[in-house]
Order: sequence, then structure tokens, then C-alpha cells
Amino acid sequence: MVTTQDMLQRQQPLETGFGYRTTAAEVIAGHDLAGRRAVVTGGYSGLGLETVRALAGAGVSVLVPARRPDAASAALADLSGVEVREMDLGDLDSVAALTASVRDDRTPIDLVIDVAGVMATPHRQTPQGWELQLGTNHLGHFALVGGIADLLVDGARVVSYSSIGHYRSPVLFDDLRFETTPYDPWVAYGQSKTANALFAVGLDARGAARGIHAYSVHPGGILTDLQRHMPREELVARQWMDEDGNPNPLFKTPAEGASTGLWAATAPELESRGGVYCEDCSVKGVVPADHSDLSTGGAKEWALDVEAAERLWGLSVAATGLDPLG
Ligand SMILES: NC(=O)c1ccc[n+]([C@@H]2O[C@H](COP(=O)([O-])OP(=O)(O)OC[C@H]3O[C@@H](n4cnc5c(N)ncnc54)[C@H](OP(=O)(O)O)[C@@H]3O)[C@@H](O)[C@H]2O)c1
Repeated sequence: MVTTQDMLQRQQPLETGFGYRTTAAEVIAGHDLAGRRAVVTGGYSGLGLETVRALAGAGVSVLVPARRPDAASAALADLSGVEVREMDLGDLDSVAALTASVRDDRTPIDLVIDVAGVMATPHRQTPQGWELQLGTNHLGHFALVGGIADLLVDGARVVSYSSIGHYRSPVLFDDLRFETTPYDPWVAYGQSKTANALFAVGLDARGAARGIHAYSVHPGGILTDLQRHMPREELVARQWMDEDGNPNPLFKTPAEGASTGLWAATAPELESRGGVYCEDCSVKGVVPADHSDLSTGGAKEWALDVEAAERLWGLSVAATGLDPLG
């Protein structure tokens, strides 16, 4: 049984030779991935698109579940070995339909990279009554992986896109849906991104005996469609872009933003560090709960807490009727 202490030990800093400006192509270059099968959510925009581009270029066949299949097909038209199928992560019925079709294929799966996400949305609910960011970012991915878990090969990897936004909140077990707490879009995003990290902790614990590992990642700051719910003035005030719409030069490009997820999907040095939270193609340690400096990197302990991971697992099983690798 893995303990939180084990997770904190695994999260100790790891130097890798890659860094802040490493690109997706540079990470993939050292790996022979030809013939593998991957599922990449959000694979038609921002970091997901760069992830699919790198995988397809390396000969991986990629399935991209998309809530806008026409837009996805158009975005991916120049890539070979990529297939698009409809799926709305925010609707568990839609996820179930997609996973049923994937199970019908009976094709073994080597990689699942859960890139899709929404950020700082207005207060909305999924069709099943979950707060939209938790429902989409966490429960949708839990149901996706749960629905296709039987196809994961021994040695498969699952990468869960978290964010430094997890600093904003642990999982609010007493008020997951903001029924008594006033809704704050950033707290809700933070809760969902902590959930993404805890999913990796829980999944790794269940898969490790078969060499199936899960990791969470913070990709860095990248100007993409993710900021669609933020007014332009807020983006300028936070210095994410200048008045002319140019990204802050300290931000990563999408190709740099996709590198850490691909590194987590392939790095041999992560084999003994299942469940960790990765940044800049490395592991950066743990920061205290009140840490607010966004420049240092590091995971908050609540994103590695095994008890919280198990509690979240239990409620996710109840919500989806699935128990991935359980
Ligand atoms: N960009 C950053 O600075 C940053 C920082 C930290 C973490 N992240 C994380 O990185 C991930 C990717 O973000 P990004 O910057 O690449 O954003 P993006 O360009 O907005 O891409 C997000 C993708 O998720 C898809 N998606 C959203 N809701 C969905 C749903 N209900 N069902 C199916 N697909 C859905 C979107 O599809 P549609 O276009 O159809 O909506 C889009 O393809 C997110 O998980 C985010 O939290 C990003």
C-alpha cells in the first residue's frame, strides 16, 4: 500500500537534461513509438494538438475523442494515423458511448493522455449535476479511463493534465458542487486540477503491479483557447498578454507546453516514481500548503495525499459506476 510519505519521497526533485524550453519533438526524438496506440483528449487544440502532432509523427496511431468532431477533423487533417470520434467529457453518457465504441475495437492501448480541460468557467452544471470543471476535467477523464481500462497493455501509461492552478484549492469534499460555498471559478478550477493530480496517484497505485503507471503534469503557462472565459482586460492585467495580444515572452509556446506530458508518457526515469506531478520535463519537489510563489514549481502536498486520492476515487466510482484497474 502506497502512503503519502511514499508519494512525497517520489516527488523529490529529479534532474533530467530537459527543461523549460524543451519541445514536444525533442522529447519524442529519443523514443521508438512506431505501432503504438494512444488516446489523446483535447487533441485538436493547444497542447493536445501539439501532442498528437508529435505522436503521429513518431508513427503512433492516435484516437482523438472530440466534442466538436468537425473542428477536430479539420485541425488534424494534415496528420496521418489519427482518428476522431465524438465525445463530450462533460457528459458521462457521451463518455460511455465513446468507450463502448473503443472497447468494440479490441485494440490494445499503450498511452492515454488526458489533455482536455476547461478553465474558470461560469458556474454551470453537467447533465449529471456536477460542477462543470470538476465534471469535465476530472470525472469525464475518470470515466474515459475506466471505460477503456481493460484495453491498457502491461506497461501502459496514463498522463493526467493538472496545472499549477491546483495551488488554488484542494478537493473540497464537504462542498464539491459549491452548494454552500460561493462559487469562485478559480477555486473550482483549482479543485479540478488537484483532482487530476490525485487521479494519477490513485490510478498508479492500482496499475503499478502490471507496470501501468500514471502521472500528472503542469504544462507551463501557454496562451491558448483555454483562456476563452477570461476577459481580455484580465489577461492584460495578469500580464499573460500585452495590449496588442502578444503572449508574455516568459510563456511557453504550445510545442513547449506539450513536452512535459509527452515526457511523462515516455521517460524511463519515471518508472520508479509512479503518480508524481511533473513540470518542465522534470519533477520539482513539494511546496507548503501556503506557498504562493508561482515561479518555483513544486506540488502541494494535497495533490499527492493518498487518503484524499482514495476518497476522491470512491466518490468517482460512485459517480461513474466504473473502477479503473480496480
Ligand atoms: N494553457 C495553459 O497555460 C495551461 C496551464 C496549466 C494547465 N493547462 C492544462 O492543459 C490542458 C490543455 O489546455 P490547452 O491550453 O491546450 O487548452 P485548449 O486549447 O482550450 O484545449 C482544451 C481542449 O479540451 C477540449 N475540451 C474542453 N471541454 C471538453 C469537453 N467537454 N469534451 C471534450 N473535449 C473538451 C477542447 O475542445 P473544444 O475546443 O471543443 O472546447 C480543446 O480541444 C488543460 O487540461 C489545462 O487545464 C494549461
